[in-house]
Amino acid sequence: MIAIAVIDPNRAIGKGGELLCRLPGDLAHFKKTTLGKTVIMGRKTLDSLPGGKPLPGRNSIVLSRKARLGRFYDDGSFSGFFLSSPEEVLSYIENELRGEEVYIAGGEQIYRLFLDRCEALILTELEQTFPDADAYFPEFRDQFTLVEEGPLQEENDYRYRINLYRRV
Ligand SMILES: NC(=O)c1ccc[n+]([C@@H]2O[C@H](COP(=O)([O-])OP(=O)(O)OC[C@H]3O[C@@H](n4cnc5c(N)ncnc54)[C@H](OP(=O)(O)O)[C@@H]3O)[C@@H](O)[C@H]2O)c1
Repeated sequence: MIAIAVIDPNRAIGKGGELLCRLPGDLAHFKKTTLGKTVIMGRKTLDSLPGGKPLPGRNSIVLSRKARLGRFYDDGSFSGFFLSSPEEVLSYIENELRGEEVYIAGGEQIYRLFLDRCEALILTELEQTFPDADAYFPEFRDQFTLVEEGPLQEENDYRYRINLYRRV
């Protein structure tokens, strides 16, 4: 299980239900990394996606305690379903996916639920800080160490690196 996120130096990830900034290059990296894979996300992150629809070309598992449980959506490119507890997610991964790669795609509540089970983190680390953020990635530096630092990139006046961390 691998968590994938964009964070600022204070681990901020979102504000008002949205991402901190738009980085087309990073979105392309996210797509390339997760295409054809299973992504786990919270219901609020699903709501923040265009049209509130799951990501095309990926198997999206959405955590929600509410009544949409078990709803499938599949119009050819979108597929996925809701599960109502982290235990159901873990059981689905163990019984149905059997070793396939799984990405934890946020937001804050979902990163917090699964961080302890992640073997790696792919973090796009912004240089800028976003003091008015209201969603944060959990503390991870005590559990993970940087193993690959990506090149410095700049887009829309934002500077960032895409870094790989592995469990210590
Ligand atoms: N920077 C990044 O890489 C990144 C990535 C993803 C998201 N984000 C940002 O993160 C923010 C959203 O994060 P968030 O923490 O507010 O929301 P979230 O984690 O996306 O979703 C929270 C929802 O997940 C469901 N949930 C949580 N714990 C559960 C449990 N134990 N069992 C069943 N369902 C559970 C609940 O859905 P119900 O209310 O339906 O019950 C809850 O309201 C947004 O600003 C978003 O843009 C940033």
